Amino acid sequence: MTKLFYIKASPRGESSRSVAVADAYLAALRAKHPDIEVDVLDPWTADLPEFDGDRANAKLTVFDGQTNQGAQATRWDEIVKIATRFTQADRYLFAIPMWNGSIPYKLKHYIDVIHQPGLLFGFDPAKGYFGLLKGKKATLVYTSGAFSQAFPSPAFGVDHQSAYMRAWLNQAGVTDIEEIRYQPTILTPDSEGDFARAKAQAAGLAR
Ligand SMILES: Cc1cc2nc3c(=O)[nH]c(=O)nc-3n(C[C@H](O)[C@H](O)[C@H](O)COP(=O)(O)O)c2cc1C
Repeated sequence: MTKLFYIKASPRGESSRSVAVADAYLAALRAKHPDIEVDVLDPWTADLPEFDGDRANAKLTVFDGQTNQGAQATRWDEIVKIATRFTQADRYLFAIPMWNGSIPYKLKHYIDVIHQPGLLFGFDPAKGYFGLLKGKKATLVYTSGAFSQAFPSPAFGVDHQSAYMRAWLNQAGVTDIEEIRYQPTILTPDSEGDFARAKAQAAGLAR
C-alpha cells in the first residue's frame, strides 16, 4: 500500500490557500487510489524538539562517523524516530506558502530536525552529498501573495521557496518532483478564478 506523507506548512487552517490546493490534489489522488495511506503532519501543532546543542552535536558526531553517548545518544534516538516517520513514506505532499521570500520557519524547523546523516543523506569527502531516499515522489504546492514567476524579480520578490525545497529534496535523493503554483494570491484581477484553476490543475495532476 502506498504511504503518502502530507505536510501543511501554513498555520492558517481553513483559510489556507496552499492547503486547499493540496487538498484538491489529495482528494483526486484518493479517488484514483482509494487504498492510499495518508499521514498528515502539521508542524505548527506537532511537538518538534528544539534543534539545540545536544542535537546539533549528535548530528555532527554521526556525520563524523562516531557514536553518540549519554544525553546526545538519547537526543539522537528521538531524532531517528521523528525522521523515520518521514523516510518510511513513499510519496510526499507539501502545502507551502511563501514567507519572506522563503518557507515558513516551522517547515524549516522540521527539515532541520529530520535531515540527518545516515537517514536522509550520506556524504563522500570526494564526491559530496548523496541522497538515501530512493524511488520517492514529492508534490509541492506553492502560494505567494505578490511573487510570481511572471513578474520581475526582485521587485516582486525572490523565489527562495521552491529553490530551497528542490535543493533539499534533491540532496535527500528525491528527484521526482512536481510543482503546483498558485502565485500570486493577492491583489490580482481574478484571484478566485486563479484559485479555482490551481485546484483544477492539482486535481488533474493527481489523476
Ligand atoms: C508571514 C508572512 C510572510 C509573507 N511573505 C511573503 C513574501 O515574501 N512574498 C509573497 O509574495 N507573499 C508573502 N506572503 C503572502 C503569502 O505567501 C500568501 O498570502 C499565501 O497565499 C499564503 O498561503 P496560505 O493561504 O496557504 O497561508 C506572506 C504572508 C505571511 C503571513
